[in-house]
This record gives sequence, structure tokens and C-alpha cells, in this order.
Amino acid sequence: RVSAQKAASDAATLDELRAAVLAFEGCALKKSASNTVFGSGNPAAEILLVGEAPDADEDRKGVPFAGAAGKLLDAMLRSIGQSRETVYLTNILPWRPPGNRQPTADELMVCEPFVRRLIELVGPRIVVCLGGSAAKILMEQDKGITRLRGTWHEMSFSDSLQSDVTAMFHPSYLLKTPEQKKIAWQDLRSIIKKMRS
Ligand code: URA
Repeated sequence: RVSAQKAASDAATLDELRAAVLAFEGCALKKSASNTVFGSGNPAAEILLVGEAPDADEDRKGVPFAGAAGKLLDAMLRSIGQSRETVYLTNILPWRPPGNRQPTADELMVCEPFVRRLIELVGPRIVVCLGGSAAKILMEQDKGITRLRGTWHEMSFSDSLQSDVTAMFHPSYLLKTPEQKKIAWQDLRSIIKKMRS
């Protein structure tokens, strides 16, 4: 069985990477999922956003952030002068965990090479982690989202790619906890500032 690391590094383009994820048999989540949710948007985006895993709507449609959280994300993107066409959207996991349970550390780790290769191929200047799973993995920090949100870390994704990485509350969390939206909007302003710098 080909490891995600090997399959990901062999992919020279986003289309090849998508094919490699579709063919990957090393993650049990794939068996219970209806669709593989790869990513969508501008393949040369300046900003790439990474969520956690597909939910029911995404699993049905095969595209990231296709449900209620996606509607809020659209508004967040608009507030920074962006849209689904200008940014690139993906998740750490391409498959829905059964019944939307929390992904295990193992599941996240198995699929991590694919999202890292995706970041390399898109080559964004700014990476926005939506929620704690993406933040922990891509910032390589063992802290929760409350500590990581609003902070910036310069991360190296390849020999030639250094990106500014930040994190904010996940839109699904904001739907359940609307009083935190104020903080999310602060974080969006920080992204605008970084875009202009
Ligand atoms: N939550 C995520 O993290 N990603 C999606 O695509 C949808 C909901």
C-alpha cells in the first residue's frame, strides 16, 4: 500500500494530487464516506483556508463548506474582499468521520501529507486555519484554538515556500457560539492587514 507521504510527493499538479487522494486506501474514513472532498477555488490563490473535515452537506456534494458553516464562511470571505473564486478552500481530512464525530489524531496524521502537498502546489502567501485541528497541525503547536487564534507564524512548506499562517474560530463553532463572532471579525481584520503588508 502506498503511503500518503509517497502518493502526495509524487503528485506534480493539483489534478494529480486529487487523483492520488481518490486512489488512497490508507484511511478507514473513506469506507464510510459517500464522497471524497478534495478542495476548491483558485489554484493560484494568495489565501488558502483549511478546515477540519467534511460534514453531512459536504459529504453529499463533494465540495468543502457546502452547508450552513459555508454560508457564514462566504460572509467572512466577503468581509476581506475575497470569495470562493479568489481563495482556495480545503480541509485536513478529505472524508467525513461517521456521524461527524471528532477525527482521531491518527486519522488527521495519516492524511496530513496530502494537505501539506496541496499547500505547496497552490503556493499561498497566507494560510488561514479554521479551528483547532488545522491550527495544531499546520502551526505545529500543541495549544488549543483559543490560544492560537489571532497569532501569526511563518511556516515553511517547502524549500521555496514560506507562508504566513494564522488561525481563527471555525465557522461551525461560531454558528453555535455567536458571541465569539466579534473575535472572529477581529481576526479577519488582522488578515486584511497582513494582505496589505
Ligand atoms: N467543517 C469543516 O471543517 N469543513 C467543511 O468543509 C465543512 C464543515
